[in-house]
Amino acid sequence: MLKIAHRGAKAYEPENTLKAFQKALNLNADGIELDVHLSSDGHIIVIHDETIDKMTNGKGFVNTLSLPELKSFLIDGQYEIPTLKEVFDLVNKKCLINIELKNAAALTKLVALIDEYVSEKNWKYEHFIVSSFDWNALQEVHNLDSKIPIGVLAETNLDLALAFAEFIKARAIHPYYHLLNPENVREMQKKGFLVLPWTVNIEEDIQKIKSYNVDGIITDFPDKI
Ligand code: G3P
Ligand code: CA
Repeated sequence: MLKIAHRGAKAYEPENTLKAFQKALNLNADGIELDVHLSSDGHIIVIHDETIDKMTNGKGFVNTLSLPELKSFLIDGQYEIPTLKEVFDLVNKKCLINIELKNAAALTKLVALIDEYVSEKNWKYEHFIVSSFDWNALQEVHNLDSKIPIGVLAETNLDLALAFAEFIKARAIHPYYHLLNPENVREMQKKGFLVLPWTVNIEEDIQKIKSYNVDGIITDFPDKI
């Protein structure tokens, strides 16, 4: 069962920072999950919200700020907002990277970056899963490069997610964990999909979801899985 560290090991370090991703590696996570947006000058930026207001000492929308501007603001007074490339270089094939596309504007650059790491740096497509609640964006990623593994994020309608996953030949379905039961987990797996629920943090829930034999769990506490 894959232990996937949500936004890095978010329980222990500031989310979506290199520090949090390093912590996930130190905890032997099998994967990390992170969120991406595009900066005004075309860099893929790792941050959850569309603004930097909550996480940094700055203000503004990520897509209106350049990389040097974004780098000038700090998280917890010490950590820079990382680019996706910086995270790839830190992880360096040591675990799976689940990239959640928060804004479709970043998808062309994202496909190009994954393709660059596969063709020039000896990474495998299996090192990546691109997930999103925006299924149109997933369709576009798939159209640009059908080898990139896709994870279909589902918050409500699991049947619809399963139908879309079959249509797009996804690698995984990422359901909100309250949607799961042992039967629907088996059904998705029988159709060939990995089942990777989010974001399971409470001990009791972790035990219950593990008993469904999911393929992995996205959690703030990879060491608890
Ligand atoms: O991977 C799914 C999960 O990360 C979705 O929720 O808000 O943490 O991006 P959020
Ligand atoms: Ca996320």
